Amino acid sequence: MLDASAKQRFGALPAHIAIIMDGNGRWAQSRGLPRIAGHREGAEAVRRAVEGCREMGVSYLTLFAFSSENWKRPASEVDDLMGLLRLYLRREINELARNGVRLKIIGDRSRLSNDITDLINQGEERTRHNSGLTLTIAISYGAQAEIVQAVRRIAAAHKRGEIELEEIDERLFSGYLYTSELPDPDLLIRTSGEQRLSNFMLWQAAYAELLFMDVFWPDFDKNCLQWAIDQFGARERRYGATTSA
Ligand code: IPE
Ligand code: IPE
Ligand code: MG
Repeated sequence: MLDASAKQRFGALPAHIAIIMDGNGRWAQSRGLPRIAGHREGAEAVRRAVEGCREMGVSYLTLFAFSSENWKRPASEVDDLMGLLRLYLRREINELARNGVRLKIIGDRSRLSNDITDLINQGEERTRHNSGLTLTIAISYGAQAEIVQAVRRIAAAHKRGEIELEEIDERLFSGYLYTSELPDPDLLIRTSGEQRLSNFMLWQAAYAELLFMDVFWPDFDKNCLQWAIDQFGARERRYGATTSA
């Protein structure tokens, strides 16, 4: 079970955990259920992950919920996923607000329906002064598109004479990403056994510890989170330098 002393028992606690929540469809398929059933269970796993991170004292949790490429799925599945998102935003905001969670949504909002962007704005506004866990959900998110929009805005600012070429460095660039207020992820988990990033946080994950877990997202629970944090604690991060030992 999780407890606060885990911080001492294991190595360093990751300040920022990012998760590619994959395997909902296969979870459902393996039970002879429609894919939407897997997505529904996936939403329960989100609750567990949020609660687990709060209990463990993780400061930032970022969840990949829907990619720019997921728009290519059949319209019925996209509708189901948007419906679930709507439901999640309506139902969970009170609970998140009560628990001191700060909610943030990243991604291309222009492709979302107006009622969903309204719910997102309300949720972010209601929780913006909270100082507990920062929960970031990536929706209609693609890292390449995120980088391109940053380049465009920096180029436009340069053209207006607001930025000199010499000022453009990693730090300035990071400030133009959707994640400008977040530290880079320390631990990046992907469930379902797939070992790829699928266009998630390509810039931000430069030095993240990667962990691929053989569990479908709907089965992800606090023990999985604990295990992932233990694995992270056992890793040695070098950032290109030599070992400290
Ligand atoms: C992750 O599960 C949820 C989304 C990508 C929206 P999938 O729907 O990708 O499930 P699999 O990978 O087909 O099992
Ligand atoms: C990545 O999963 C996106 C999310 C988990 C939201 P996908 O299931 O879309 O990725 P691929 O298609 O297997 O690369
Ligand atoms: Mg998948």
